Amino acid sequence: MSLRLGDTAPNFKAVTTEGEIDFHEYLGNSWGVLFSHPADYTPVCTTELGKTALLKQEFEKRGVKVLAVSVDPLDKHLGWRNDINETQHCTVDFPIIADESKEVANLYGMIHPNASETFTVRSLFIIGPDKKVKLMITYPASTGRNFYEVLRVIDSLQLTANYSVATPADWKSGEDVIVVPAVSTEDAIKKFPKGVKVVKPYLRYTPQPNKD
Ligand code: BEZ
Repeated sequence: MSLRLGDTAPNFKAVTTEGEIDFHEYLGNSWGVLFSHPADYTPVCTTELGKTALLKQEFEKRGVKVLAVSVDPLDKHLGWRNDINETQHCTVDFPIIADESKEVANLYGMIHPNASETFTVRSLFIIGPDKKVKLMITYPASTGRNFYEVLRVIDSLQLTANYSVATPADWKSGEDVIVVPAVSTEDAIKKFPKGVKVVKPYLRYTPQPNKD
């Protein structure tokens, strides 16, 4: 059975560029991003890992630990990491999992046999502090992911985990959010002192509650 939203992110032990880890222990109380790439020493993957390293502070600010994974061995990861640092002007210091046995790839359904029998596709999972899967995306090998979109989703997930709101299409942190249908307009007015704009009875906006 493939992994679905709300499922517990499967735990595993793995060899990584930052040493051996137990995934759940490594995450601790943090949020996590676990993302696979097809192979080391490939161009799109090089830019993806570089971009992730360059966004280190953005992930840290949000309390997120990132981990990359592919089925390549550790020595290959270590050599490629030097190339990423050199060409992308960054320092990759998050773990790159050497999943030679494909244990992680199989646990997370990262191998899509009709795309490739052997390599992982570009899967990405956001995992909450409760270890539940909050988001899953899958991109083909030929398309690099947008890591600003990953940060945007994390902002939305962290907001909606704490307030009775949802975020509209293309929302960015700082913009108005949507009052969830489960909250009546009467209750929303009490709950959101910054105000509630009623466009339709089912479409109500309020300023982002956790921003000044
Ligand atoms: C890449 O990372 O550039 C790549 C990897 C596998 C297939 C196509 C592109």
